[in-house]
Amino acid sequence: MLERLQKIISAAGITSRRASEALILNGQVTVNGIVVTELGSKADPAKDIISVDGKPLKISAQRLYILLNKPPGYITALKDGQNRPLVTDLLKDVPERVYPVGRLDYNTEGLLLLTNDGEWANHLMHPRHEIEKEYHVRVRGKVIDRQLKRMAEGVELEDGMTAPAVVSLVKSGEQNDWISVAIHEGRNRQVRRMCEAVSLSVVRLKRIRYGTLALGTLRAGQFRYLSDAEVRQLADALAGAPLSHPPRTETHRKSTHPERPGGNVRGRRQ
Ligand code: URA
Repeated sequence: MLERLQKIISAAGITSRRASEALILNGQVTVNGIVVTELGSKADPAKDIISVDGKPLKISAQRLYILLNKPPGYITALKDGQNRPLVTDLLKDVPERVYPVGRLDYNTEGLLLLTNDGEWANHLMHPRHEIEKEYHVRVRGKVIDRQLKRMAEGVELEDGMTAPAVVSLVKSGEQNDWISVAIHEGRNRQVRRMCEAVSLSVVRLKRIRYGTLALGTLRAGQFRYLSDAEVRQLADALAGAPLSHPPRTETHRKSTHPERPGGNVRGRRQ
């Protein structure tokens, strides 16, 4: 089936749709050995040999969608200059190369998606879709309602005010409290910086939900494949156009879907 070149390149997981367009315009893309620089050009990924910088694209028939429980101390990247452990080191026996959807900090743990479906990944990460991500944060000492309220309403960070968030107290311990923070922005170190802004010191940070997907009972370092239904539900729940191709998954498993969190702030002390 004929498809636009930029779509084929991004679906192969090379780069985003926009960056694929730049590759075409720069004359870095060939179809059956002929340089193609026109953006509307189409090719058939099943028949044509499409190359970027002389390297033929590996068009995988098998699209993989993985949910990993990232432990702390792993880097969300495909390589690291400092030789630190990579999240992909945890994916034993995964038959295709997969890429993280967004990132978690080195010391953040929890739900991380990986896929070789570039189009699905770009769809999820597009800022206009504002997928809600929920984190559980263990903070030193006790939180007060005012701190939760400020985080919920938005705090001033060096890159601007944060959007309203859903923040609540989850559990209170002797030395530490756990709070839940649900945000739909994706700024660098956002939850850590929001906590800092209200003088909360983060001891642990764990992502427990990404849109309709929950981390569930997966142990740290373990992963599972998403079912077809989970892949579709996550993309369909987004604002805007649905995916133009039906995602193809290999493994079918049951999943749990949490309730969306309630009111904006549930806390305890004043
Ligand atoms: N917010 C953070 O501060 N760090 C992460 O890894 C994710 C969200």
